[in-house]
Amino acid sequence: MKIAFVGKGGSGKTTLSSLFVRHLAATGSPVVAVDADINQHLGAGLGLDEDVAAELPAMGARLPLIKDYLRGSNPRIASADTMIKTTPPGEGSRLLRVRENNPVYDACARPVELDGGAVRLMVTGPFTEADLGVACYHSKTGAVELCLNHLVDGRDEYVVVDMTAGSDSFASGMFTRFDMTFLVVEPTRKGVSVYRQYKEYAQDFGVALKVVGNKVRGEDDADLDFLRSEVGDDLLVTVGHSDWVRAMEKGRPPRFELLEEANKAALRTLQAAVDATYEARDWERYTRQMVHFHRKNAQSWGNERTGADLAAQIDPGYVLQESVIAPA
Ligand SMILES: Nc1ncnc2c1ncn2[C@@H]1O[C@H](COP(=O)(O)OP(=O)(O)OP(=O)(O)O)[C@@H](O)[C@H]1O
Ligand SMILES: [Mg+2]
Repeated sequence: MKIAFVGKGGSGKTTLSSLFVRHLAATGSPVVAVDADINQHLGAGLGLDEDVAAELPAMGARLPLIKDYLRGSNPRIASADTMIKTTPPGEGSRLLRVRENNPVYDACARPVELDGGAVRLMVTGPFTEADLGVACYHSKTGAVELCLNHLVDGRDEYVVVDMTAGSDSFASGMFTRFDMTFLVVEPTRKGVSVYRQYKEYAQDFGVALKVVGNKVRGEDDADLDFLRSEVGDDLLVTVGHSDWVRAMEKGRPPRFELLEEANKAALRTLQAAVDATYEARDWERYTRQMVHFHRKNAQSWGNERTGADLAAQIDPGYVLQESVIAPA
């Protein structure tokens, strides 16, 4: 199950992603946590020391390896050089599973020990000096998109992505790659405006979107009333200020089981919403949207950049699905 946390800057995407990852790990489920934000904070949110987090291997810097592995023996993809972030898998491509070891995880994932068990953490990599002025920002988050396009995930296995809500994810199609998108919204007009924009894009593509109210004060119902009136039934649950989170930010993470009961309940609600989407998953639509955005990207910049007709990479009969490769 693929889950994205999006929202305005500072709304609590990283905080809620990391809490959700901790919750899933505590249930014993396999989890891959992905930091797809160029401002890398998920490692710290999962309790890594800053110097350890800074040393995590950047996916953006390992694109050639990722491309070469995923390309496999796909005859439609002549070389890794012509593979762009939207290049879809086809006959011969290698796929990724949540529970397996593979060269992509070897190169890009690191285990993070949590109270409940270990998760894999992958990061796109920070924005470096060398990226400034170049369109490389795309290639950074592009690595995540490429991996999602080659991922076959099953029930009870989770990929949690901490994202920005930026327009980049709309242009590339990244926003259509998830079974559930949690839009983290503070009870403010700015928070709600990001919701409106996201909702508009999401509607045309059948993206499952739920609002998670964050930093909601409970003294009176003003915050809750505001969110309800602005986002209506899209509001799934709200999270209040957490002293547990505050303690973690001070570098003193309490055991996860000590998280406030109301917040634990909120995390269970998130998981239930995710799990409920399993039966409705539609791999044909997933593949179709992947192809749609690949054509768009090929036309708008990919063909020119690579000097190839990238639409020829599309394998017309191919549908990504769970049964493509059997679990190990
Ligand atoms: N429910 C909460 N209780 C206490 N503190 C919170 C809560 N949610 C978020 N915070 C705090 O608010 C700040 C911003 O949160 P966070 O970093 O998760 O936001 P973000 O959306 O990931 O931000 P960015 O856009 O910079 O990545 C952090 O200091 C975080 O600890
Ligand atoms: Mg963040």
